[in-house]
Amino acid sequence: MADLVRTDLAEYAPASNLQFNEHIRDLIQSGRKIFHFAFGQSPFPVVESAVQALKVHAGENAYLPVAGLKQLRQAICDFHQKFDQFDYFDPDDVIVGPGSKELIYLVMHVFNGDVIVISPSWTTYKPQARLAHHKPYVLDTSLDGDWKLTPKLIGEFMKKNQMKKNRLLILNNPDNPTGTSYSGAELQKLSEAFREHNIIVLSDEIYSRIRYDHSHVSLAKFYPEGTIISTGLSKWASAGGWRLGYHIYPSELSELRKAVKSAASHTYTSAPSPVQYAVTEMFQNLDLCDDYMKHCSRMLDAVGTYCYWELTSVGVKAVKPTAGYYIFPDFEVIKENLKRRGITTCEEMCKAMLDECGVAVMAGGPAFLRPVEELTTRLCYVPFDGGNALAFSRSLGLDTDLPENFVRDYCTPVYEGIQALKKWVLDQKKH
Ligand SMILES: Cc1ncc(COP(=O)(O)O)c(C=O)c1O
Repeated sequence: MADLVRTDLAEYAPASNLQFNEHIRDLIQSGRKIFHFAFGQSPFPVVESAVQALKVHAGENAYLPVAGLKQLRQAICDFHQKFDQFDYFDPDDVIVGPGSKELIYLVMHVFNGDVIVISPSWTTYKPQARLAHHKPYVLDTSLDGDWKLTPKLIGEFMKKNQMKKNRLLILNNPDNPTGTSYSGAELQKLSEAFREHNIIVLSDEIYSRIRYDHSHVSLAKFYPEGTIISTGLSKWASAGGWRLGYHIYPSELSELRKAVKSAASHTYTSAPSPVQYAVTEMFQNLDLCDDYMKHCSRMLDAVGTYCYWELTSVGVKAVKPTAGYYIFPDFEVIKENLKRRGITTCEEMCKAMLDECGVAVMAGGPAFLRPVEELTTRLCYVPFDGGNALAFSRSLGLDTDLPENFVRDYCTPVYEGIQALKKWVLDQKKH
């Protein structure tokens, strides 16, 4: 049988990060020593109290309400009141799903209007938009502007494009892949532009609780009526495989929330019951969550800062990461040298890196909505033993700084991999 797939999806590929990860795993299994910086998931163990609670609730086998367990939605509101000082959301504004990815997809699916994604972008937004029958618009940012959206960029973009009346922009703050984040002042100005151009924003804040200086501000503070907050447990609580995420809607967008809830009822029914009970209990001890986040953030800060200074010391350009576990280095500095070796695309450069110094990073290029000839890459600084590092950080306590050699001693594969990459860059300069 032929022509079974929608023609607009003819070249639709699996999530490139997942596919590349499988390839690297095969190489590692075959005995190759590889510094695996290509897959972004938390290196730390799940919050311990949640693991205990999950064991207790393993027998919960009933379907739960589509929007999620009421106690969980209340706990989510309390969590955001503590960490974001939101005092106006109630459980009816929240939808819980099996990961925020699924919920983002459903919003795009039910949305009547145009979808705007920002470049560089997390590898999933655009493919989801296409799957949901949109032809997304791409709004470009630049390394010189720290990969940030500005009111000026929005104004120019809106002038150039004739868009439908309703617009949904996906903003990732803090950002995967660039590690950049917005200040309150920047969000305030952006909110004016969003209002002026009638743009609803899906503010993906999944990395907000691992912003290193704990200064995250939600766009919803400045643009409450037009912001859907998307977040979950995958990043700060290291529970990606538990599949629990949620969205918070303002009352002005309740029409969208209701449509997403209906779509949820016809697709995933409800997020896993034992996980919902376990997470509810975890949220009931917010001081414990706070302590866990602070330890994880300060370690990721140390590792990200190390990667940034080492790579930029040999001329590679990047924004200094402010949250999460990604840096988006641009290897423009060796472009001409690589050209002399016949290497002209980012994919080819990443293949050479992997073959010649055992470093696996994801090529920028179309997967991140970047041009093929741009030498940007996404490097996830997570291949280290997070359990060991967390135990060490806790043994020190939060009042004592991590020692100078923390990365070398507790995140050794990251330390060695970055040194190998640095040497490789210097070697290229000889060509
Ligand atoms: C920017 C961003 N948003 C959303 C997600 C999805 O997270 P979840 O596990 O909640 O589906 C990820 C995970 O990689 C991500 O990086």
